[in-house]
Amino acid sequence: MEQVNIGMIGGGTVGSGVYHAWQRNSGLMASRLGMRLHLGKVAVKAFDEPRPYEIPASCMTTDWKAVVQDPTTQIVIELVGGVTLARTMVLTALKLGKPVVTANKALLSAHGEELFAAARAGGTNLYYEASVAGGIPIIKVLREGFVGNRFTHIYGIVNGTCNYILTRMKLEGAEFADVLAEAQRLGYAEAEPSLDIDGFDSEHKIGILASLAHGFWVNPRQIYVEGIRQISRQDMQFAQQLGYTIKLLGIVKKVEGAGRKARNGSRAQVSVYPALIPNTHVLSNVNGVFNAVFVRGDVVGDTLFYGRGAGKDATASAVLSDVADAALDLKHRSHGRVPPFVPHERAGAVVPIGETVSRYYVRLSVIDRPGVMARIAAILGAARIGISSIIQPEGHAGESVPLILMIHDAPNAAMAKALARIARLPVVKAPPVMIRVENFD
Ligand code: HSE
Repeated sequence: MEQVNIGMIGGGTVGSGVYHAWQRNSGLMASRLGMRLHLGKVAVKAFDEPRPYEIPASCMTTDWKAVVQDPTTQIVIELVGGVTLARTMVLTALKLGKPVVTANKALLSAHGEELFAAARAGGTNLYYEASVAGGIPIIKVLREGFVGNRFTHIYGIVNGTCNYILTRMKLEGAEFADVLAEAQRLGYAEAEPSLDIDGFDSEHKIGILASLAHGFWVNPRQIYVEGIRQISRQDMQFAQQLGYTIKLLGIVKKVEGAGRKARNGSRAQVSVYPALIPNTHVLSNVNGVFNAVFVRGDVVGDTLFYGRGAGKDATASAVLSDVADAALDLKHRSHGRVPPFVPHERAGAVVPIGETVSRYYVRLSVIDRPGVMARIAAILGAARIGISSIIQPEGHAGESVPLILMIHDAPNAAMAKALARIARLPVVKAPPVMIRVENFD
């Protein structure tokens, strides 16, 4: 049976997960693929770095170049993370004409176009199934399974850390800071949590999905990003009373333009922000560290993909899938069969957040006195922004009381301006809280 030799850079959590999964299922994969995959070389930071599964010392080296440049290495797996050394490693392999499998979403987000060009120039391919939503094969879904569809909506819960925190806040009525501190103690959240909780990890992933869906490479600087630090127990509870759950969503929506804008090419909203989603929607029940991606195609309709978005085993599953594709492409000399990214929308553009339209949940802290509601309603009315419901819960003592407004569809820029005016009213005692509402229509 033909054999393909694989070299891996990275022997930590994910790397050892890949090694373990390969040991467990390489026989099965050989019978499915009709070729043997041999993972014989692993470049590590240190032989004794902590890893959940063992890697035999005879496979390990601390010299990544020795793995990439070894003439017997035919496929390179990059699992080191970061964007600087990882970029050098990936480019080195691609320049040697070796296919690369990566799980590195930050690298793709920052340098995707350069890496794709290097793969083309090297006559090889770059595979990145593991970069988005871990074990969920969403890259294959968008590029192959749904190739006959236009994508009107993608909604992704693509960060397990945020979903874990928001789930516990909802189920236990806990505050964000307390859940984060415990998640860090348990090792579910990083000691430096900003990449996850400020939405940047979701930004990298949703940028990749948006690019594949809309045919132009989305610059991460064009993605509007809000994280979950400002979500409070109080808002989670009011959302529940109203029939909603708060989730951090990555959102890609096709925006229908008018006139010149429509003729010029595809326009899409690409954003990451916490949103109220109806408890009747399936995404509201994606709990804990799980990820889910909801895709609406113009032919297929609504679809949902659910699974573990991170961790050694789920990520290993995606890496092995890419290794199998790379091996088959080598065998059949078909490295360009599914290229990493084909731009097909020259004039595509990301719509600035201010121009996009949303519904909103707004919580104000106001003095409970006659005329307050009239002044707030007057500001919204003048901005042509409609209120769909109002709650002022009873039993709140003290100088100010919460006032919850649910707002009809309105452009984000108009809403921001109106809220700034409301915030300046002397009867408003704290900065307004505004969370968008997604109804999936
Ligand atoms: N830290 C990410 C998460 C996984 O919490 O989902 C890696 O992207």
